[in-house]
Amino acid sequence: MSDILVIYYSYTGNSRKIAKYAQEKLNADILELHPKTPFSSDYEKVIEEWQNNSIKRDVEIENIDKDLTKYKKIVLITSTWWYGINPVMKRFLREYDLSRKDIIVTATNAGWIGHCFKDYKELLPNSNIKGELDIVFSFDREENNKILTPWQKIDNCLEKLN
Ligand SMILES: Cc1cc2nc3c(=O)[nH]c(=O)nc-3n(C[C@H](O)[C@H](O)[C@H](O)COP(=O)(O)O)c2cc1C
Repeated sequence: MSDILVIYYSYTGNSRKIAKYAQEKLNADILELHPKTPFSSDYEKVIEEWQNNSIKRDVEIENIDKDLTKYKKIVLITSTWWYGINPVMKRFLREYDLSRKDIIVTATNAGWIGHCFKDYKELLPNSNIKGELDIVFSFDREENNKILTPWQKIDNCLEKLN
């Protein structure tokens, strides 16, 4: 068992891609977060529901199956939703205690990362944030979720956990 845990939530797969990469690179364990009620699989509907407020900002999440006390180092990976971190990750950080752990925080986004790192800082007041990683994916459907951030930048940030 590793002392590093990669924790992620991904709606369209971009954050999952980074999470699997980090898992392999760091030889880490991995934990995927799930909302209790899944978002619609229709992307446009989710955008519309968010804009007209029919998606609750504070979603409930499934219980996790990892003992967090066993991990000293954590990588948090999720997407940017409306200039902040995704509500699933937000809820996780409100419910679970990551105090005194070394943490890398990341936000996948389409170029408008907004206040994600501020969100992380507010939700992790007693953690040691070792690195912040802004990972941009193309929003152009024809480019099929192409990553625009160089992998070298991701590697450099992940190394800060060592
Ligand atoms: C409801 C919703 C809101 C979004 N808001 C933003 C945003 O504010 N800024 C941004 O750069 N990208 C935004 N995006 C795009 C995602 O952050 C981006 O595509 C991300 O890489 C998706 O990660 P995932 O595939 O792990 O879900 C939004 C996407 C959705 C579905």
